[in-house]
Amino acid sequence: MRLTLHDLRRLAAQRKLAMLTCYDASFAAVLDAAEVDVLLVGDSLGMVIQGHDSTLPVTVADVAYHTRAVARGSRRAWIIADLPFGSYQQDPGQALASSVALMQAGAHMVKLEGGVEMAATIEFLVRRGVPVCGHVGLTPQHVNAIGGYRVQGRGDGAEDVREAALAVDRAGAAMLVIEAVPEPVARSIAEQCRLLTIGIGASVACSGQVLVLHDMLGAGVGKRPRFVRNFLLGSGSIEAAVGRYVEEVRNGQFPTLDHVYSDAA
Ligand code: KIV
Repeated sequence: MRLTLHDLRRLAAQRKLAMLTCYDASFAAVLDAAEVDVLLVGDSLGMVIQGHDSTLPVTVADVAYHTRAVARGSRRAWIIADLPFGSYQQDPGQALASSVALMQAGAHMVKLEGGVEMAATIEFLVRRGVPVCGHVGLTPQHVNAIGGYRVQGRGDGAEDVREAALAVDRAGAAMLVIEAVPEPVARSIAEQCRLLTIGIGASVACSGQVLVLHDMLGAGVGKRPRFVRNFLLGSGSIEAAVGRYVEEVRNGQFPTLDHVYSDAA
């Protein structure tokens, strides 16, 4: 049976949610069998599948293609598809058209990056039946604006990240990815927000965790961020590695303090 948003909220009251990125039918079946709760067809596909050095070249058609494959391969997981760069920032109508394309491809929810500036768009989508996942902190589509893939929300920046998260929450998003922010900032967001929070380099206090599939299998490209752990090491098989990830996320063993950031630079 396919998990619903209602199921995810119920599960999150009992244990942490396990989410991984996924881009094809074969891995979707493996992740489904391991009971990964949420599959994210992330625009990280631009880097790990297509070989670009950022997520910026990814198109709605690319994400729709991979979403169709993931939807065919899975039966249980909730599927989120990323709205790629340039496909939603213009106005709410553009965001709705892109979201429709991704939901018709099989997504149950769309994810977009940004805070206060995206609040009106999030509200517009939610009122029209599109469940939305926000994404604050390190937002990879802003890589050129923020000067690289850097931790966000240190020092004076903490209030900006908190305000972004609260704006997404107030706008009606049901879920929020918090990426690469100091642990105390992520923890306070998880505690203050009504929505489900999913951490990546954030805090074990979030409702769940996400990693890029290739990273957690030791096949990531480029410099390995602090929040990545290779679960294949010592596991013996991909199935066992994914199973270990699910178990350690569910019971709050991952992330440890080694995989999150402090307030100090
Ligand atoms: O595109 C992606 O894979 C993501 C995750 C890193 C959260 O946004």
